[in-house]
Amino acid sequence: MGRQTVTALRDISLSVPAGTLTALTGPSGSGKSTLLHLIAGLERVGSGTLDVLGSELHACTSAELSALRLREIGFVHQDFSLLADLTLIENVRLPLEALGTARGDATAAARAAMGRVGLAGLEERFPAEVSGGQQQRAAIARAIVGERTLVLADEPTGSLDSRTGAEIMDVLAQLRDEGVTVVLSTHNPANLAHADRIAVLHDGTLVSFGTADSSVSAEAGTA
Ligand SMILES: Nc1ncnc2c1ncn2[C@@H]1O[C@H](COP(=O)(O)OP(=O)(O)OP(=O)(O)O)[C@@H](O)[C@H]1O
Ligand SMILES: [Mg+2]
Repeated sequence: MGRQTVTALRDISLSVPAGTLTALTGPSGSGKSTLLHLIAGLERVGSGTLDVLGSELHACTSAELSALRLREIGFVHQDFSLLADLTLIENVRLPLEALGTARGDATAAARAAMGRVGLAGLEERFPAEVSGGQQQRAAIARAIVGERTLVLADEPTGSLDSRTGAEIMDVLAQLRDEGVTVVLSTHNPANLAHADRIAVLHDGTLVSFGTADSSVSAEAGTA
């Protein structure tokens, strides 16, 4: 922040196995978004090492980080962040177009991704013409389109009612079951039920990291 240094995370050590769903939880300001941004290559570690999908992000140039993000990492924001002037399928195929994939191939891959998240038939709708849950499904489809198998989701259910939020968690859990690695942040304890591992953050440190049962009890123990 200008000349002032903010230490958002410190002494974090964790390893997320491929094909699992990890939930980051903890109070506001504890560092969840910062950790997701680091894994996505959107922010850089001040010190230490960060290995994502076999790439050492701490040693990558900005251009390498951008390329890795585009090719391999999908990011889902709380507020969907779809482009309003584009149809759902145009939104979903954007990352592939940016990679230079031929239009027909990109469209086919986008159609397949939309099918995986339950959006078949809504390809030509604009974001304003579908529900919030469907917009979030489209954002998830954009995150997995093509060969990408790492999805980072920052409060993916935060803008949704509880029932729609539960549906989105089901979609993410289903993708995990298909081999996608999912790391998400959430304030909602109900979302933790889908997690293979739960990382509890507090003031930028990792309070606990473990399988769902062990972490929840550790969190309860420190409450
Ligand atoms: N752009 C920024 N500039 C300076 N400090 C920041 C910035 N973004 C976040 N921080 C600080 O970094 C720390 C971690 O913030 P972060 O956004 O990662 O928390 P969070 O767990 O995602 O919170 P929330 O649940 O409210 O989304 C906080 O102390 C916050 O004030
Ligand atoms: Mg956040």
